[in-house]
Amino acid sequence: MPTKKVFVSGTLLGDALDVLRESFEVLQCDSVAAADLEEVSGIVALITDRIDETVLARAPELKIVANVAVGVDNIDLAACAARSVVVTNTPDVLTEATADLAFGLLLDAARRISEGDRLVRAGEWKQWTPSFHLGARVHGMKLGIVGFGRIGMAMARRARGFGMHVGYTQRKRIPENLERVLGATYVPDIDELCATSDAISIHCPLTPETRGLFSAERLARMKQRSLLINTARGAIIDEPALAAALQNGPLAAAGLDVYVDEPRVHPALLALRNVVLAPHIGSAERETREAMASLAAANMIAVLHERPPLTPVR
Ligand code: NAP
Ligand code: GLV
Repeated sequence: MPTKKVFVSGTLLGDALDVLRESFEVLQCDSVAAADLEEVSGIVALITDRIDETVLARAPELKIVANVAVGVDNIDLAACAARSVVVTNTPDVLTEATADLAFGLLLDAARRISEGDRLVRAGEWKQWTPSFHLGARVHGMKLGIVGFGRIGMAMARRARGFGMHVGYTQRKRIPENLERVLGATYVPDIDELCATSDAISIHCPLTPETRGLFSAERLARMKQRSLLINTARGAIIDEPALAAALQNGPLAAAGLDVYVDEPRVHPALLALRNVVLAPHIGSAERETREAMASLAAANMIAVLHERPPLTPVR
């Protein structure tokens, strides 16, 4: 029987590659863009790979795209559906790692830790004084969560330990008993949540509906001296407008892990002191990245062996 061919983009941590090689002929290179896809039945893709109609047309045998990420905004889902190509992602295994990073950015932005580190290294710390390098109070703050799915809820669990009051917004309210367990209140109007929260953390996917959700107008309506944290996707925020809101108010600080045009960071943000800039490392723990790779491989094996995928994107 001819062996099916699978294309793997970039590197997979752990034993996922060996596992795939037990069942398939594995082709590998740095990106889908440079790959020969003519005979491949499956693609293991990274968020840096754009899977669109042009790529699909180069892969007439394709049955599955297994994204090594939970976000799938790099994939044209409609084009895949039109060709009956299954799309899978890697939910759950990266939830806690990403929430840890989001909470870390919140602490850093509020208490100005990275800014203080730069100042110390530059020899600009002259003396301890009562008013030196003051930050925002974290304990007991009002935290607004935009997108209350897996990572948003994991953020709420962390917030409880810091005595925070959690509000959340998304299209569907979660069951009341779950709200009680998480100590979270549903605020259907995003502008109300923004106007009343000391910090907003974004955890919704990038979709046509959420692109530019944090526009100049919405940012202007945020609470005075509040914080904005984004570990979701860069294009959810208007970056020049964010830079303006950090410079002229109402925002005191921001913590970002994601950007519109990665790895480029908007120069207006790079120029600011009061923004913590992480290089898209939400899931960047070895254990988590191995689990993501394993899950992508398991999805690939299931679909190409004509079994249901473990984590399909619907
Ligand atoms: P999830 O469980 O699907 O949660 C997403 C939530 O967003 C859902 O509960 C959904 O609820 C809500 N949502 C969707 N559209 C919305 C809208 N228009 N306005 C407000 N809320 C909306 O996803 P997850 O696993 O938590 O992951 C969330 C995102 O985090 C991913 O899509 C990815 O982009 C990002 N991420 C980033 C990193 C990183 O390395 N920085 C790592 C992992 C994930 P409704 O449908 O009820 O609106
Ligand atoms: C990372 O950004 C992911 O969506 O998993």
